[in-house]
Amino acid sequence: MRIDIITIFPEYFAPLELSLIGKARASGLLDIRLHDLRSWTHDRHNTVDDTPFGGGPGMVMKPEPWGAALDDVAGRGPDERPPRLVLPTPSGRPFTQAAADRLAGEPRLVFACGRYEGIDSRVAADAALRMPVEELSVGDYVLNGGESAVLVMVEAVTRLLPGVLGNADSAAQDSFAPGAMHNLVEGPVYTKPRVWRDQEVPPVLLSGDHGAVDRWRRDEALRKTVRTRPDLAERLAAEGDLDRRDRE
Ligand code: ADE
Repeated sequence: MRIDIITIFPEYFAPLELSLIGKARASGLLDIRLHDLRSWTHDRHNTVDDTPFGGGPGMVMKPEPWGAALDDVAGRGPDERPPRLVLPTPSGRPFTQAAADRLAGEPRLVFACGRYEGIDSRVAADAALRMPVEELSVGDYVLNGGESAVLVMVEAVTRLLPGVLGNADSAAQDSFAPGAMHNLVEGPVYTKPRVWRDQEVPPVLLSGDHGAVDRWRRDEALRKTVRTRPDLAERLAAEGDLDRRDRE
């Protein structure tokens, strides 16, 4: 997969050199390219923002540098499929595990990191004439810019690519994974030692009975979901999943 990230803070993405993503880049599984938006400005101060039409606080990112950057980075050859453009914004659709799965199926993604009060809205409208565009939010809170949201999305998407995780099964058992974990968060996990500060590991995990372990994990996932995510538990009940899973 190829990922292009356009930002005024390329240094923000240093963590993408580390750990599993760093290894996937080194092995050629993942091609991540960073672009400094200011290289598409032409004035002495490399200006990327201006005051909002209609008044109000804050600044808005100017359309011209963004238009030129997207023309260069997301442009395409005559036979090429255009990349999907992702705009992180608190006003976007929720970025969920299902969205991560969908994005992981794309050969090319471009992320455009807004700052200040956001990017002039004509930029997305113009890009949508040439490529699929989606606005995504990582949660109901406001960040200083899209950079940290893009770090979150890139990590959630790239760990789903074949060969990025050490153990191919582990993504399938994550919270929210499609299948058995749909609409569920993971329950508790344990490793050695068997007893630590007077706390014992649940005996079923030492039983060697894989069916019993699977049932215990499913029950604990349900219990935890009811406790921490009543919204998800309600969805499970509405979809009939609670009953179906109990029968399985
Ligand atoms: N930019 C600022 N806040 C954001 C959020 N919650 N999600 C995505 N991008 C953002």
